[in-house]
Amino acid sequence: MDKLLIRGGRALHGEVLVSGAKNAALPELCAALLTAEPVTLLNVPQLQDVSTMLKLIRNMGVAAERASDGTVRIDASGLNTPEAPYELVKTMRASVLALGPLLARFGEATVSLPGGCAIGSRPVDQHIKGMAAMGAEIVVEHGYMIAKLPQGWTRLKGARITTDMVTVTGTENLMMAATLAEGETVLENAAQEPEISDLAEMLIAMGAHIEGHGTSRIRIEGVERLHGCTHRVVADRIEAGTFLCAVAAAGGDVVLRHGRADHLDAVIDKLREAGVQVQAVEGGIRVQSAGGNTLKAQGFRTTEYPGFPTDMQAQFMALNCIAQGMATVAETIFENRFMHVNELVRLGAKIQVDGKVAVIEGVGSTTSRLSGATVMATDLRASASLVIAGLVADGETVVDRIYHLDRGYDCMEAKLRGIGADIERITA
Ligand code: EPZ
Repeated sequence: MDKLLIRGGRALHGEVLVSGAKNAALPELCAALLTAEPVTLLNVPQLQDVSTMLKLIRNMGVAAERASDGTVRIDASGLNTPEAPYELVKTMRASVLALGPLLARFGEATVSLPGGCAIGSRPVDQHIKGMAAMGAEIVVEHGYMIAKLPQGWTRLKGARITTDMVTVTGTENLMMAATLAEGETVLENAAQEPEISDLAEMLIAMGAHIEGHGTSRIRIEGVERLHGCTHRVVADRIEAGTFLCAVAAAGGDVVLRHGRADHLDAVIDKLREAGVQVQAVEGGIRVQSAGGNTLKAQGFRTTEYPGFPTDMQAQFMALNCIAQGMATVAETIFENRFMHVNELVRLGAKIQVDGKVAVIEGVGSTTSRLSGATVMATDLRASASLVIAGLVADGETVVDRIYHLDRGYDCMEAKLRGIGADIERITA
């Protein structure tokens, strides 16, 4: 099992390339199932989750070739098995995104229930509710969702759907299914993340009729069929936000090439309040920080986009740990997303958790620093949080189980080394 060895105390300088967004590439690989014509995706990040999704669609009979420059060519004309099996779905929850496209194009789909993951139970009841609203008959048995159109139907039927809560992949699944449904679908209470807008732009390039993406009300007018397209995956705002927090904590002056400051307003506002300089520059974002205890800890609560993203909670908490003052962090989206806390405490952080709230007393107040230790990654963003803490801790930090990190970050240690961090991968 690979580990990362980090020697803390180095400031970061230079330029980092932000990769394509994991949470856009995954639904967009599924969107390619909606047509029998070739689809080309550009700027697809080199991630474990992308490899898993490619395995999933190849398993269905889809041809998918990935080039080293991030181009992926998909041809779903040969799709002959509209199934997403448990052994693949259990390793990546986003596999549920195959449900909508398969149902829309083939009128049937057998998709394993994803099961929970480290951060929460992660139900898919809203996906099922929405597909049923469009006429699908879905039974759940033996751990699988078995969906099909009613007898005599050739297409789903458009519907007005209000999900019980804002759900990112729920919105994506239903939007994809609606593109080929008969008539109009309106998604009320839709998620507004930039990855949803990016997916909508890809679907529109394929001939879909969609408006309102990026707002809480998306309207889709179904069409008979979709054609191929070439689409460039939007830059990963969470990777960019992670690097903003890393430079803020370690100190330095870095440009994040391709980073979109307009996708990170809530995070950038908090960084500025902490004392970090962040500005949009031509083609990216520039971040400058004196690092460590020159910063002031910032409280925040995670909410749906455009609020503070839950996927940035762990990374910003690492920053709060080394800043001055106290801060309260509330996690409102997932029920178990504080697993990085115990590991940060091993590094000397002062954090108290009470349910969905964590109170952090930054060590910067007492000029003491975090001290390096061996810590264990528990989930994707928790891993990033531990790397950030390791960059500023005294001595050596070893982050174990970094397969979690590899799911969602494209060569993180190489990118950090490229701006001066003392970090290396140890392959056990
Ligand atoms: C997406 O997960 C992201 N994953 C997550 O990123 C992200 O944390 C999350 O959205 C929230 O922003 C991808 O896009 C692949 P939700 P998703 O449905 O869609 C509840 C990362 O680190 N809910 O928006 O699964 C759910 O339990 C990952 O990159 C239901 O109850 O999240 C949660 O409490 C982690 N029933 C809330 O809604 C449903 O049918 C929001 O979940 C669906 C969701």
